[in-house]
Amino acid sequence: MTTDVIAIDGPAASGKSTVAAGLAERLRIPYINTGSMYRAITLAAMRRGVSAANCTEAALAPVLERLQLDYVRNDAGHFVLRMDGHETDAALRSAEVAALVSPVAALPNVRAWLRERQRALAAAGRLVMEGRDIGTEIFPDARFKFFLTATPEERARRRPAQSGENFDGATLESVAAAIAERDRIDSTRTVAPLRPAADAVLVDSTGLEVDEVVNLLARKVME
Ligand code: DC
Repeated sequence: MTTDVIAIDGPAASGKSTVAAGLAERLRIPYINTGSMYRAITLAAMRRGVSAANCTEAALAPVLERLQLDYVRNDAGHFVLRMDGHETDAALRSAEVAALVSPVAALPNVRAWLRERQRALAAAGRLVMEGRDIGTEIFPDARFKFFLTATPEERARRRPAQSGENFDGATLESVAAAIAERDRIDSTRTVAPLRPAADAVLVDSTGLEVDEVVNLLARKVME
C-alpha cells in the first residue's frame, strides 16, 4: 500500500519549505510544514518555563497534555496551523524558539504526539508534507519522497532571507554555526534522526532557483 503523500525532507534551511509550498501550489494540493508543529510545541513549552536546562520528557508531558494543535483549512483551501485555537505567528520564527526546537524535537514523547497527528492529516487526501522524518518514519510508504540539500554556506545565506527567522543582526558565520548545531542534534538523535529514506530522490539545490527545483520535483511527480 502507498500513502498519497509527497514527502520532502532535508536539513535546516535547505529550501524545503519554499519548494514544498511551491510544489503544492503547482499541484493544487495542501501543504503541511511539520517544522512549525515542533516550533509551536517549543513555544508552548517556553511559555511554561521550559528552557535548555530543563528540556526533558517530564517537562514536556504537561505541555502536550494541554496543547491543542490543529491544521485548519482556510477559505483558499490552504492548511493553516492553529495553536490553542489561534493562528500562529512570527513568534514561531524567533531565535529563542530556533535555539530550543531541536532539543524539544529529540524527545520521544514529543515525536510520538506529533506522529499520530501528522499521520491523521493524510486522511484528508493528497498532500505535500515537509520535515525531517516524513519519508522515513511518518510515511515510509509515501508515494513520492524527496531529500533536499544545499551546501552549509548557501543554507546560511538563505535562512534569514527565506524563513523570516529573526537572527537579531547575527553574522553569517553565527547563522551557519546555529544551523550546523541544529543539523548535528537533528541527525544524531536516537528517535527518527534526520536522514534520507533509502528510496528518496536526492536533490542538491545549491545554485538553483526555487522554480528550477519545483520544476524538477513536479516533473518526477507527473512522470
Ligand atoms: O524546518 P524547521 O527549521 O522549521 O524545523 C524546526 C526543527 O524541528 C528542526 O530543527 C528539527 C525539528 N523537526 C523534526 O525534528 N522533524 C520534523 N519532521 C520537522 C522538524
